[in-house]
Amino acid sequence: MSFVHVCICISVLVSQSLSVNKDNFKSCDQSGFCKRQRNYEPGESTYIALLNSLKTTSTSIELQLLNKKNSVKLLLQVIGLQDNTIRVKINELSPLKLRYEIPYGEVITKQPVQQEIKVDGSSQKGVTFTVGDTTGVISAEPFRMDIFSSNEPVISLNARNLLKFEHMRVKPGWFSSIGSGLKSWFSQPFRETPQPDPPNDDHEAESDHKEGENEEGKEENEENKEDEPKDEPNMWEETYKTFTDSKPNGPTSVGMDISFPGFQFVYGIPQHADSLALKTTKNSDPYRLFNLDVFEYDIYSPMALYGSVPMMIAHNEKKTVAVFWHNAAETWVDISSNVADKTIFSKVADFVQGNNEIPQTDTHWFSESGIIDLFIMMGPRPKDVFRQYALITGTTALPPLFSIAYHQCRWNYNDEADVAAVEENMDKADIPFDVMWLDIEHTDGKRYFTWANDKFPNPKDMIGKLSSKGRKMVIIVDPHLKKDDSYDVYTDAKSKGYFVKNKDGSDYEGWCWPGTSAWPDFINPDVQQWWASKFVYDTQPGSTPDLFVWNDMNEPSVFNGPEVTFLKDLIHHGGVENRDVHNIYGLYVQKATADGLVLRSGGRDRPFVLTRAFFAGSQKYGAVWTGDNMGEWSHLKISIPMILSLNIAGITFSGADIGGFFKNPDAELQTRWYQAGSFYPFFRAHAHLDTKRREPYLLPEENMKIVRDAIRARYSLLPYLYTQFYLAEKDGRPIMQPLWVEFPEETATFGIDDNFLLGPALLVRPVTEQGATTANVYFPGSDQIWYDVQTYAQFSGGQEKNIDAPLNKIPVYQRGGTIIPRKMRIRRSATLSYQDPFTLIVCLDKQAKALGHLYADDYRSFQYKNREYIHRGLIFENNQLESKNFDRNSKYTTKEWIEKIVIAGFKKTPNKIFLKKSDGSTIELGHSFNSENKVLTIRKPDVNISEDWRITIN
Ligand code: GLC
Repeated sequence: MSFVHVCICISVLVSQSLSVNKDNFKSCDQSGFCKRQRNYEPGESTYIALLNSLKTTSTSIELQLLNKKNSVKLLLQVIGLQDNTIRVKINELSPLKLRYEIPYGEVITKQPVQQEIKVDGSSQKGVTFTVGDTTGVISAEPFRMDIFSSNEPVISLNARNLLKFEHMRVKPGWFSSIGSGLKSWFSQPFRETPQPDPPNDDHEAESDHKEGENEEGKEENEENKEDEPKDEPNMWEETYKTFTDSKPNGPTSVGMDISFPGFQFVYGIPQHADSLALKTTKNSDPYRLFNLDVFEYDIYSPMALYGSVPMMIAHNEKKTVAVFWHNAAETWVDISSNVADKTIFSKVADFVQGNNEIPQTDTHWFSESGIIDLFIMMGPRPKDVFRQYALITGTTALPPLFSIAYHQCRWNYNDEADVAAVEENMDKADIPFDVMWLDIEHTDGKRYFTWANDKFPNPKDMIGKLSSKGRKMVIIVDPHLKKDDSYDVYTDAKSKGYFVKNKDGSDYEGWCWPGTSAWPDFINPDVQQWWASKFVYDTQPGSTPDLFVWNDMNEPSVFNGPEVTFLKDLIHHGGVENRDVHNIYGLYVQKATADGLVLRSGGRDRPFVLTRAFFAGSQKYGAVWTGDNMGEWSHLKISIPMILSLNIAGITFSGADIGGFFKNPDAELQTRWYQAGSFYPFFRAHAHLDTKRREPYLLPEENMKIVRDAIRARYSLLPYLYTQFYLAEKDGRPIMQPLWVEFPEETATFGIDDNFLLGPALLVRPVTEQGATTANVYFPGSDQIWYDVQTYAQFSGGQEKNIDAPLNKIPVYQRGGTIIPRKMRIRRSATLSYQDPFTLIVCLDKQAKALGHLYADDYRSFQYKNREYIHRGLIFENNQLESKNFDRNSKYTTKEWIEKIVIAGFKKTPNKIFLKKSDGSTIELGHSFNSENKVLTIRKPDVNISEDWRITIN
């Protein structure tokens, strides 16, 4: 949402269809480097690999690449990483200036563990190598690299010869105008030649690399050569609208093609408002990754949005592989489909088996600056790829339980009385909620870390009232600081020199909500620490342990900036340009905020921070939402692929504004949106300042009851969802999953993004069409049984079926063979249910078996990292249900117990049922059996969840 639009939207909001003003955002043609890279057609690649420069260590290969046209050399490093992963880095051998590389720490936590790379052979043609069970071939002339899994090619780099590396050079004409002293200074490289990541063992580097060879790289630092690329407009300076980007380093973009032979489907590279399966960009712009505040964003569009994860997954029925383009600059990705025939593989013909009709997806990636740093994750199954990616960028931090319950937000709840009234009305309507949110109007003139005293005179008391019912509050804290010499957060940052700078070194100023503002330079670790310290209890006014934070506008949004953001030549910590780090600014804001919340409790409590801008790795710091969507059916529909796309790219704790941010959705749309949203990993209703009030209790009675049921159903599912978050923190699995993740061989699922799985056990098909009373549900898995969660009616897998879905019905099915823990006593907030008993829902598969997990801890602190948790395995087979300790390390005790067990798909009338406890005692349990829907209900096992027990059904 941007300032210039605030006024006009008041009148537009309620009326006609809205759409983005494309004039405010660059098309590829308007972006110098995008145009150059996209139009690059070299014919044969200009790059050759210099085989006599080959250097190897036990975990890496290094080769120089020569651009035959201008004699510029690049350094190629291929590094073997643990778990079937390969890193490919391409940088200038002797850059005029060091090119930006994202440091280890936040995106990639630490240097990934390396794995042995074996050079199997090198000939005049190239080098072959093996990492784990992956083979690679580096061909020398022209340079390309092909990666094989079980002898089949799966990824090719530079197969289409699109490697284009704009080396740093001196502006033409400028060199001849300077004196000879300076000239000779320029003929020296400014920095050391980049070094490869050191191997993680002490194996000696073997090399036939000739001494002094790097020296040649210096040549191109002299005056432009004749065979340098011809200067094009926008290379040395670029003007967009009224903004001029001074480009002090000239053209620095990097680009390369990545082909996926054998793959028709690729997914990922969020954030775009588009289908889950990525589309060819033949007739559109490439998909753009550049964190932007896009007002009234279009759907089914490759335009950039608030966050960027340059990670793409290719999937077919046999294999899943992925690439992560580790670059924080503006990036575009072109996608086209192709048929890989033998010609394409002629250079590696020896390795190719198969027919001429292999489908292939070709992609072309280009970034404005930085280096090529590509992680190739070899799968071979979706779950392997998620784990491999998590080993690089981390997993979603286990959220505190309250934060996966229902959040009530709007811009704005006006004052303390308003907050109290909403709470009271929710309670009267018997609608549970855990979190009350306050938007920017809660502050004194949009000065974050302050309160509007007239409206919120006693924030601590207000929060205290929420706390008394187990509830929390979230307030917004944006990264722009109002320029105001009486605002201490601003003056503190200013005096410390903590603001992002103009290229002349002065503090950069722009407009945002408070008017003229400055932005702390979150790229600077000191600034992150300083920001974190602002959340300490006696520093942050009105704070209590139940106050949490929402970071918005952190792309950052600058109302009077180019494309509503920073100028690219602004300067960050270490003299780095915004051009280099643009896409990670928002990640650091969220990280610093989360650090602050951890700091304030002395490291005890888990933080909760919602962010709008994000990058790869943001999953470690909290939740993400899809920004300013619209109260339209089409936006409800697109929310599903948008959240799926975030989930497969690691950002699993994500959701969309329920009801839509703009416009006034009618009761039917709101109802359907709550039903869908109750299965989003992050479940929050939100609305624009100028929309009609729409708390769920305001809905017409019939709709209100349906919405209440949906929210209550979410609460009953929290134990399952929380368990999924715990498992995801361990292995990086998505929470909301495309069907193909669980059914990777089922080709019919590859294009589906209106049905999804929540965890592995629940199939959800939200109704997203106005007036619909039926829905087409795709039941995956020809050997599966799916059980309607309300009626336990059974459906066979491997078919699409039209299901009755009147307004009060959400088509949701539990997979046969799974056990879901629920809590059926719905209270006013999740926190109040900490000690409540569980109900286990066992749905049997065709072999009358089922399996599930149950995870529990104190639901809020980091104590689970000190073994204070319970992780039980629940196993049903041979008419016995057993609870086993899945983790001998755990040592938590709790009062939580099991009050009921429901077994669906149970074939015969049971006779007697016995429970054997860990102390050896055996008791008979009461039960009832419904022979019509084949549901057996076992009453009151009354056993603590931390115990071993077994139930036998005779
Ligand atoms: C932005 C956010 C929106 C918020 C508004 C006011 O538009 O995306 O959620 O309500 O700013 O802070």
